[in-house]
Amino acid sequence: MIEIRHLKKEYPDATPLRDVNADIRDGDVIAVIGPSGTGKSTLLRCLNLLERPTDGSIRIDGDDILDPGCNVNLIRRKLGMVFQSFNLFGHLTAIENIMKPQIDLLGRSRQEAYDRGIELLGRVGLANMALKYPDELSGGQKQRVAIARALAMDPEIILFDEPTSALDPAMIGEVQAVIRDLARAGKTMMIVTHEMSFARSISNRVFYMDDGGIYEEGTPEQIFANPQKELTRRFIYKLKVLDIEIEDSSFDFPSVCSGIADYCSKNQIPPKTAMRIQLVFEELVQQILIPELTDVHLRFKAEYSEADESTEITVAYGGNAVDPEATDNRLSLTLVKSAVSDLRCESVQGDPLSNRISMRIRS
Ligand SMILES: Nc1ncnc2c1ncn2[C@@H]1O[C@H](COP(=O)(O)OP(=O)(O)OP(=O)(O)O)[C@@H](O)[C@H]1O
Ligand SMILES: [Mg+2]
Repeated sequence: MIEIRHLKKEYPDATPLRDVNADIRDGDVIAVIGPSGTGKSTLLRCLNLLERPTDGSIRIDGDDILDPGCNVNLIRRKLGMVFQSFNLFGHLTAIENIMKPQIDLLGRSRQEAYDRGIELLGRVGLANMALKYPDELSGGQKQRVAIARALAMDPEIILFDEPTSALDPAMIGEVQAVIRDLARAGKTMMIVTHEMSFARSISNRVFYMDDGGIYEEGTPEQIFANPQKELTRRFIYKLKVLDIEIEDSSFDFPSVCSGIADYCSKNQIPPKTAMRIQLVFEELVQQILIPELTDVHLRFKAEYSEADESTEITVAYGGNAVDPEATDNRLSLTLVKSAVSDLRCESVQGDPLSNRISMRIRS
């Protein structure tokens, strides 16, 4: 129903969307996640023409909404938007806020707009709040009025931009419940959110945005339980990454050690884990591996997951393969094995650093 092709949005200092391609189908509930500044809001704002895309096309039921002849109000009706900050008119009551766009944009009579407004206020659990002004409502209630206002336009899709992030924790649930209810009723929705368990439980598709577009997309199961691409993994598992490259054997050993120490303290890695990461570098890389290499070129990578406090270490290096288990340096090997589990060696074709040793720090 909505086809996005090669969508680009450029600002003078940033290009949040370089090349976005997606198809949104009727009944889809799409959770849009990703780090701050990756263009999630920009994408929604482009869809609803609050921003003019720099390039590309957006087709709704075949019509390109970026065509200059396109009726902007008609498009905005088809793509309702709910903002973090509610955007209600302060001088109008809840019901008047919901009636106004129906009268102005859809040409409904006051009675029709009122009847529909009352019905929708009931649907979001605010039947008795029709005559309240926004100032007299809680944040959660205001957001539910804003959702009712969007629904009143009978949009084909509702775009939510962090609908609960301005709310007190106690009110998040009531707004999420309304959105969940809409999902169950088959409403097509796109929801930008930083609440991962909500994103996971409500959606049938997840867009992970990064690096200028939809970097990885999949079912909630795929994205949250088994993300495939590097940046998605870092985001989902809250990975803190240390990546050190060493290009000759006379590298500055103390400065690498202090780099590891800085990384551990900056990311609040538990002291025992920090000590073990340091030990792997000293005993495995410095004592076992480097003496065996004719040409030293290696990368030492640690990925600490804030989500489950686990740490994976990978040492990738070029040239001849070295089996640490076969080393004569039994003392270093014993120390390494006391610090890590699941020590494995593999070779990766097509990478100049084709030998890998991976392991998990013992917890
Ligand atoms: N009107 C604007 N003028 C200039 N730059 C903008 C404008 N709007 C957004 N940007 C820039 O575009 C980038 C993407 O912003 P956007 O608000 O879409 O990110 P986001 O993914 O929604 O982030 P957050 O999770 O923090 O809401 C940022 O670098 C931002 O500074
Ligand atoms: Mg945003």
